[in-house]
Amino acid sequence: MSDQVQKFIRVDHAGEYGAAWIYAGQLAVLGRTRHAATLQHMKDQEQVHLDTFTRLITTRRVRPTLLLPLWNIAGFALGAATAALGPRAAMACTVAVEETIDEHYCAQEAALDDTETPLRETIAKFRAEELEHRDIGLANEAELTPGYRVLTAIIKTGCKAAIRISERI
Ligand SMILES: [Fe+2]
Ligand SMILES: [Fe+2]
Repeated sequence: MSDQVQKFIRVDHAGEYGAAWIYAGQLAVLGRTRHAATLQHMKDQEQVHLDTFTRLITTRRVRPTLLLPLWNIAGFALGAATAALGPRAAMACTVAVEETIDEHYCAQEAALDDTETPLRETIAKFRAEELEHRDIGLANEAELTPGYRVLTAIIKTGCKAAIRISERI
C-alpha cells in the first residue's frame, strides 16, 4: 500500500470522526427541536462512514492521526457553537463542512487507480451522502444565516487546515 493511500485512510478516518462529533454537538443543542430527526439522520450516516474507516484503519494497519482527541473536542464545539447561534447557522456549518469534504473526496477519487477500486467506490458512496447533507443544509435555509459568507468561509478554512494536519500527524 502506498504512502498516499495510508494518508488517505488516516485523514478520512479523522474527518469522519470529526463529522460525527459535529452532529453530536448540534444534537446536544437542537435535539429537542423540529430539526432533531434531520440531524440524527446525518449523524447516523457519519457513524457508518466512521465505522468503515475505523475498520480500514485496523485491517490495513494504518496509524490513526494522533489528533483524534482534538477533533473530538473541536468537532463537538463547532457543532454546538453553530447550533447555539440557531438552526440556520447549524445548517450553514453543515454546508461549509460537507462542501469541503466533497472537494476532498473528489480529489482522492481522482488520485486512486484500479488497484484501489474498493476504496475509491467507498469514497464515492460517502461523497454522495456528504452532498446529500449539503443539500439538507441548503434546504433548511443555511444561506439565510446572518453573515453566511463569512461564517462558511471561516469554517471551510478550519476544515482544510484540519485535513492538512491530519494527513501528516
Ligand atoms: Fe461522512
Ligand atoms: Fe456528511
